[in-house]
Amino acid sequence: MLFTAFVALAGCRQDMHDQPRFKPFARSDFYTDLRSARPPVEGTVARGQLREDSYLYTGKLGNDPGDYLPFPVTEELLARGQQRYDIYCAPCHSRVGDGNGVIVARGFPRKPPSYHIERLRQAPLGYFFDVITNGYGSMTDYATQIAPRDRWAIVAYIRALQLSQAATSADVPAGQKVPSDPPQFEELGSGATPPVVETKPARHSAQEEPK
Ligand code: HEC
Repeated sequence: MLFTAFVALAGCRQDMHDQPRFKPFARSDFYTDLRSARPPVEGTVARGQLREDSYLYTGKLGNDPGDYLPFPVTEELLARGQQRYDIYCAPCHSRVGDGNGVIVARGFPRKPPSYHIERLRQAPLGYFFDVITNGYGSMTDYATQIAPRDRWAIVAYIRALQLSQAATSADVPAGQKVPSDPPQFEELGSGATPPVVETKPARHSAQEEPK
């Protein structure tokens, strides 16, 4: 009895050892393409990758950029947008979006356009989302650094920047005080970009010198 139990259990263990399996990338005659590693079934969606709302991830309706946010704009969203903008975009575009960020002031070879030019003031919101997602000209994309929701938050904040720089007293809701002497855009712009100061030569330029 004990012997039988022993044999039976040993058998189980052996089964687990020898269970059918393929070594990685082994050939298999079972499939017509001879590959044991099977491609995922068509339409398979990886966990967390179901991008059903394509507008949220592309900013496009068909091939054209849409002009709305995929969720409501709240004060929190704008605050988040401002914070992300100041981290990721302001170094080049400046805090007010005139394109005179510190990197540009220190010699970045290409100056970004101001967000306050007519073309970009008219550009739909989805266009800005697309520029962040895919880059534009000499500007790299920020798809890996900035999650889609944060990209939209930045977009909302850029639109707020644009509106703020072109606002008139007529835009102030009735009953609210209009600042008697609102600061001018130029003043804000130059104040936002610290002056270039002479610094010691960067280390890499020293290394480039012939030894
Ligand atoms: C390292 C510098 C740099 C950073 C950081 C940067 N940009 Fe740019 N951006 C540029 C340059 C340079 C251009 C102009 C590119 C060209 O015309 O080839 C540009 C152009 C743009 C344009 C205008 C596209 C057009 O139609 O003319 C938008 C919009 C824009 N950037 C948004 C952003 C946003 C939003 C961020 C932050 C997520 C950002 N950029 C971060 C350098 C930068």
